[in-house]
Amino acid sequence: MTKVSNALIFLLSGSLYFTSCKPSNEYRNDVIENDWPVYGGNSSGNRYSPLTQIDKKNVKQLQVAWTYNTGENADSTQRGREIQCQPIIVNSIMYGTTPELKVFAVDAENGKEIWKFDPFVADEPQYHSNRGVMYWEDGDDKRILFTAGSYLYALNAIDGKLIGTFGTKGKVELHGGLGTNLGHDLKDLMVISTSPGVIFKDLLILGSRVSEFGDAAPGHVRAFDVRTGKMRWIFHTVPQPGEYGYDTWPKDAYKHIGGANNWSGLVVDNKRGAVYFGTGSPSVDFYGGGRHGINLFSDCIMALNAETGKRIWHFQTIHHDLWDRDLPNPPNLITVTHDGKKIDAVAQATKDGVVYVLDRDTGKPLFPVEERKVPTEGAVPGEEPSPTQPYPVKPEPFARQFYSEADVPDMSKEAHDFALKRFKETRSGNKFMPPSKEGTLTFFIGGGAEWGGSAADPEGVIYINSNEIPWDLRMTDIETKNKEIASNGKALYVTTCAVCHGPDRKGGGSEFPSLVDIGKRLKEKEIFTILKTGRGRMPSFQSIPDYKRQAIINFLLNPEGKNQIDPHNMSKEAKAAKGSNFPYVPPYINNGQIQFRTPDGYPGIKPPWGTLNAINLNTGEFVWRVPFGEYPELKKNGIPTTGTENHGGPVVTASGLLFIGATRDEKFRAFDTKTGKILWEYQLPVGAFATPASYMVNNKQYIVVAAGGTKYGLKSGGSYIAFALPKE
Ligand code: HEC
Repeated sequence: MTKVSNALIFLLSGSLYFTSCKPSNEYRNDVIENDWPVYGGNSSGNRYSPLTQIDKKNVKQLQVAWTYNTGENADSTQRGREIQCQPIIVNSIMYGTTPELKVFAVDAENGKEIWKFDPFVADEPQYHSNRGVMYWEDGDDKRILFTAGSYLYALNAIDGKLIGTFGTKGKVELHGGLGTNLGHDLKDLMVISTSPGVIFKDLLILGSRVSEFGDAAPGHVRAFDVRTGKMRWIFHTVPQPGEYGYDTWPKDAYKHIGGANNWSGLVVDNKRGAVYFGTGSPSVDFYGGGRHGINLFSDCIMALNAETGKRIWHFQTIHHDLWDRDLPNPPNLITVTHDGKKIDAVAQATKDGVVYVLDRDTGKPLFPVEERKVPTEGAVPGEEPSPTQPYPVKPEPFARQFYSEADVPDMSKEAHDFALKRFKETRSGNKFMPPSKEGTLTFFIGGGAEWGGSAADPEGVIYINSNEIPWDLRMTDIETKNKEIASNGKALYVTTCAVCHGPDRKGGGSEFPSLVDIGKRLKEKEIFTILKTGRGRMPSFQSIPDYKRQAIINFLLNPEGKNQIDPHNMSKEAKAAKGSNFPYVPPYINNGQIQFRTPDGYPGIKPPWGTLNAINLNTGEFVWRVPFGEYPELKKNGIPTTGTENHGGPVVTASGLLFIGATRDEKFRAFDTKTGKILWEYQLPVGAFATPASYMVNNKQYIVVAAGGTKYGLKSGGSYIAFALPKE
């Protein structure tokens, strides 16, 4: 393309195609032609493909073109690992991750494996979600960058071998550079990265996932040199003395408060040289008595100078978060028309069901956002809820904002009575009701919008899939909770472990080892692994959910039941001796983040339980909104489509199609972007809880999605499935 035609396309279709100031050695991550080179499609994160071969007329003919089976999650009846990865496609090669966090390259035309890299050949395997990988090139130097465990790796994209000159023998340890001035050691804390970063010139800008409890590491955003792995800048999401926003926290909070992390990914505007992302809530979730203040830069939409990491602007969506309302996906860079003027904007869909549309240069809202009074009474002792919170007036919310009596389900008398009883015990009426001992049936501990992200087309319409599953948020004091966990752990030990290790944990002869003082011999993590994978003649306990496993381990490490919640089992005295308030132990915690379901297992609320929404961000008006996903057994009984929980985002094509999996009915669907009508659906072997990608090789358009299942207790799988039109 010539400069002139680029400029013309830029004028016509907004920011999707600007390329005019691309240095010659920079990989074009802001352009999609036949490839899908970046998580989110291009660096604007719009999950938008300009391809049109598959269109509204022929979409019904789509068939499976190839399947790449990773060979993992082979037994579909065993709980596997999810695949949340949206693959990238560069020069007709598809790169992605497997359930066990291996990275692969396959021929995007036929799914044949080219190489596979196992980050854990020498190390203990780690499991966490991974949403994608990054690509960078400069001439013949072509790299795949990705994270697994606490490492960032650089691989040669051609052969999958580590690039020895990057970091230490091809990898960079993610704790390094996070902070030595905190008065406590970071090295054993969780610092991983579940969403890929973005590339800006020769920088890789990366967020992180950290603990949400008292042992949370700082959630700072960092840039690494893509050639050497050296850290080039760091942005403190919890400000330190002398930095902007420091006064929105108690003095020295940065030493023991972590989180406020960007776990959901970022987007970059190459022309402006700016990176945009959302942050999460600060630690600890649900209790802010240790962090009075509005807590910048938690729950903020951020714009930073991509070259330097300096703040350009911020916009806080929740002050002093008490509900775990992280910004759950990367924003969308879009161009809209407001008051007759074209404006480059950034749109952010939230867990609590609203969309912010901000001017990309100033962070000013394009539609009014009102700061409204919210309830503060009834919070647990020590809490100081923010007296006001922001409310975007337009667009209207895409999910119900709070649970009211009218939402009590009526599908059966039993379900109705159950939900009504709990509703009457709780406090309701506002999405910012502070967490209390009585509890609140609330939304948005999970989305609303989720990590799959939103799609946007060049006309300025955003497409958001959303959940409406209520949660029962109920605070309890830590002493009570500790006793509960201790007795749970003990009870579980007695029923599952005592047969071999003895009720007194002393084991039996040489056959069954004693577990008394096991914490002195094994690290908590090692015990966790033994319980998951088994060892020697000890069976594996795969089927026990993680929280129960944790309860058993807590019991083993501390049979007397003291400080069960304290992640380091550190006494107050030990902490005082260390002169540190870390890990922070809150006096109140949520009693279990429980999704509110009725005894029949359905969400404890009237449908819809999941929706798909199209909103025109020029006008702020909905184009359409439909229930998304179904329960076949309810459908059969004549109940209209309820929608289901859904995780994994949409992809929109220039031919007016929206492709998405995500629903618990394990279907992959194509919707008409103009009407929200289903044009095609395909029953997958297992659910696709990941975002698809679309690309073209040899004049054939493909749409590919990972089918890893596992979510919602459904069957597991380990494949990527590509669809295309049949041969003529
Ligand atoms: C069927 C018998 C059996 C059951 C049930 C069992 N284990 Fe074991 N466990 C063993 C055996 C045998 C070993 C020694 C394995 C080896 O190293 O070969 C072992 C080893 C262990 C170890 C490692 C001990 C060390 O010193 O290295 C831990 C920890 C452990 N078990 C915990 C548990 C827990 C917790 C449970 C309950 C969830 C459990 N086990 C249930 C038989 C059992």
